Amino acid sequence: MSNRLTVIILAAGKGSRMKSGLHKTLHPIAGKPMLYHLLESVTELQPDRICVVVGSEKQQVIDAVSGFEGGAQKAAYHFVEQTEQLGTGHAVKVAVDALAEQSGGTSETGDVLVLYGDVPFVPADVMRDMIHTRQNASAAASVLGFTPADAGKYGRLVLDEYSDLLRIVEFKDASDSERQLTLCNSGMMALDAESLPQMLGQVRNDNAAGEYYLTDLVAIAREAGKQVTTAHASEEQVMGVNSRADLASAEAAFQARKRREMMDAGVTLVDPDSVFFAADTVIAADVTIEPHVFMGAGVTIGAGSVIRAFSHLEGAIIGEKAQIGPYARLRPGTELAAQTKVGNFVETKKAKVGVGSKINHLSYVGDAVLGADVNVGAGTITCNYDGFNKAQTTMGDGSFIGSNSALVAPVNIGAGAIVAAGSTITKDVEPDSLAITRAGQKTYSGWAVKFRKRAKAAKDKTRNKKG
Ligand code: UD1
Ligand code: CA
Repeated sequence: MSNRLTVIILAAGKGSRMKSGLHKTLHPIAGKPMLYHLLESVTELQPDRICVVVGSEKQQVIDAVSGFEGGAQKAAYHFVEQTEQLGTGHAVKVAVDALAEQSGGTSETGDVLVLYGDVPFVPADVMRDMIHTRQNASAAASVLGFTPADAGKYGRLVLDEYSDLLRIVEFKDASDSERQLTLCNSGMMALDAESLPQMLGQVRNDNAAGEYYLTDLVAIAREAGKQVTTAHASEEQVMGVNSRADLASAEAAFQARKRREMMDAGVTLVDPDSVFFAADTVIAADVTIEPHVFMGAGVTIGAGSVIRAFSHLEGAIIGEKAQIGPYARLRPGTELAAQTKVGNFVETKKAKVGVGSKINHLSYVGDAVLGADVNVGAGTITCNYDGFNKAQTTMGDGSFIGSNSALVAPVNIGAGAIVAAGSTITKDVEPDSLAITRAGQKTYSGWAVKFRKRAKAAKDKTRNKKG
């Protein structure tokens, strides 16, 4: 694509059906703002300019786009404010006018691709297809159409006898016979930058909604004797989010796709529908994931590992052949080396765990660095917080922490050292030593027999008095 490419993303709408303080396009899908899903595909096209039309909650959108990681690359971001939402045609006009002003009146060339901030899953290939079909036909526009299972209230594409696009009619304005048409308007289009400003100037708002429709560009182009083409997408690729129910549908569609991708890449999902991934989850082949596992952002799992049922993982890097769960909670900053084991009801946070180490039961390990082959006994707690500051615990290679120990950070357990069960460790433990802080044991032989005899006699006495 040697042509100059400008992408315009419409995101001025209020999204009132979301009933949210957060701008609609920033609601997360698979742990990532909806708008980022779109920006990732846009970035693949390497556009020259990306213009985001903002309106309600504009600062939220500007901050989010500015924070997008791909944001530092080639494209320059422009934010244009549409103060009143007078329609999609008006929104594009506001953007085109602002861009023209910025380029100091030099005439625009190349392609303008119009996308919607609340339509997150349009693949880069579909965007390219829109651009190419327009270029190949030297058309004024290429409209992205789709045929949904239920055409509902989408705008309809009206074709002529040669299957060329004649015009787009909004559902509100459509006749009964037009409403029978099944090819719908996704709203997105690729446009010829050169003829666009003049065409936009002709869009009127004399329609059922009293809005300036972007869709009117089609009829305007045809009347001027220009060509208009169509490109096609699946319903899922153009699904939009207008409500929380739509958001849940979008999440479901994303998860379904991700589960298929994971299984295709060699990951076993025992019950795919109950496993949730984040957009950035990376899992090697021959990993098995049992039912009911949730992954937040930043999870990487090495080959041959098993994630057992009911585990919750977030910001965790897991090496090869590790065994996690059931019921494990790995929080951000967890780095588990190969062949580690983290068992049931164990929580880890900012914990680096060396090769072959085990934390098998009921423990909290936070702000800790563990060497290789460390054994952390059941119920061990790293006391990493004093109410003001966090402090670190280290456990050297081969150290053994007895069950129900409290390690009060900052504290270092030397390599090969043993902490006796039930100890509260407040001072560093030198390598290969034993640290024990519990009171010594005393045993009184026969005491229990005497106790029971005395207790029974006392009880019998009170019973006889009552009787
Ligand atoms: C639009 C199409 C319709 C298509 C449907 C697909 C038009 C006239 N109609 O209708 O043919 O079937 O999408 O979902 O284009 N926006 C602004 N500023 C505005 C108006 C809208 O930024 O002044 C943004 C909205 O935030 C939204 C997008 O543009 O992201 C689409 O606007 P919306 O009002 O939802 O269009 P539809 O009525 O759904
Ligand atoms: Ca819409």
